[in-house]
Parts: sequence; C-alpha cells; structure tokens
Amino acid sequence: MTADEQKIVAAEAALEYFDEGIIGVGTGSTVNHFIDALSKIKHRVEAAVSSSEASTKRLRDHGIPVIDLNAAGDFELYVDGADESNHHLQLIKGGGGALTREKIIAETSHKFICIADEGKLVKMLGEFPLPVEVVPMARSLVARQIVKLGGTPVWREDFITDNGNQILDVHNLEIMEPIKLEQQINNITGVVTVGLFARHPADLLILGTDQGAVQLDPE
Ligand code: A5P
Repeated sequence: MTADEQKIVAAEAALEYFDEGIIGVGTGSTVNHFIDALSKIKHRVEAAVSSSEASTKRLRDHGIPVIDLNAAGDFELYVDGADESNHHLQLIKGGGGALTREKIIAETSHKFICIADEGKLVKMLGEFPLPVEVVPMARSLVARQIVKLGGTPVWREDFITDNGNQILDVHNLEIMEPIKLEQQINNITGVVTVGLFARHPADLLILGTDQGAVQLDPE
C-alpha cells in the first residue's frame, strides 16, 4: 500500500467515531480523505468547524455547512492528521501551516482523534522540522531565541498563514521533553503557536497500515 492508501484506511476508520451533530475538522491530505468520507454521511453532520480555509472550501464543496468556532459551543469530536506522533500521542503538526487553528479546535473538542499513515509513528519527535507560527515583525527575534534552545530555524518563505502570520520550521531538534519544549517556545515573545501538541496530545491515534486500521491509545 502507498502512504496515501494508508491515509484513506485511517480516514475511513475515524468515521466510526462520529455519531451526529457538530464535528471539528483538521487540515492536510489525510483529512482531505476524511472530508470525502464524511460527505457520504453528511445527513448526520449538523455543521463542521474547520481549521483552515482549504478544509472549509472542501467541506462546502461537499455540501457540508461550516460554522465559526465561537458559534459551535461544546462538541464531541475533532479529527486531524499529524506530521509525527510518538507513542504518547504527542504530535508535531503544522506541515500545512494550519497549526494555530488546529490547536484551538483540539483544545475545544472533547475528543481528538489523529489519523495518519503508519510512517508518521516515531520513537522520538523531531526529525520532521517543528513548525512555529510567528508574528511577522518578531520573526528574527524568535529565530534567535530558538537557536539558544538548540534548534535551527528556517523561514518558510512565500508562505503566509490563514491568520496573516509567518512560519519558522525548526530543524535539528531531538525532542526528549516535548511538554517542556512546548512551554519554552510558547513563552518566546512573538510566537503565536508552536506545532508541538504535547501538553494536550491526541486521545486516539488511528494508523493506516497494510493490515488495515490500527488504533493506538496513549502509552
Ligand atoms: C496541517 O497544518 C498539519 O498539521 C497536518 O495535519 C499535517 O501536516 C498532516 O498532513 P498530511 O495529512 O498531509 O500528512
């Protein structure tokens, strides 16, 4: 199976966890498969809250209404992909640049299910460059602070987030203490969001494998 076929396996398995009502929807190629699968049961979807303009467009193209998070109140489920997950289901996210809205929706929903191809599961986070969304005027300031933490920040040029900000992709990190690093980077003035989801990891990881969907709880 290709990685993309494994993404489809994971995305379709996540549908089992959705009953009816409002659903939170993430961003990326795996989530695109989830949105396509969700469209087959859209009569049960009251509305979606979306983590990016791209997902909003795809949802609406399928006839699924999208509402503002502020109007959604409490809802049960958020489904999103990841760039890496460790066995505690702590994640690196933001390869697609939607990390801020993703973190907000993950924080709002009762349950966060991460869907991914099996290549995303790692022993230690950090091989995938860690995305950090920054206020544009603070980019160099934040970059200098990140160097002090041992990372090598690279400006994702020609990319602006849906919130009008910029992204630094931080290379060369071996993330031994994800919660600590998340706090340290959050504390840098000018950082909007760090793409480490460690303090609030996923509640369930559904991996697409050649043997089918494998569901992992946090260790
Ligand atoms: C989007 O900003 C990211 O957090 C995605 O969830 C992540 O990059 C996974 O993307 P794929 O599903 O395309 O691998």
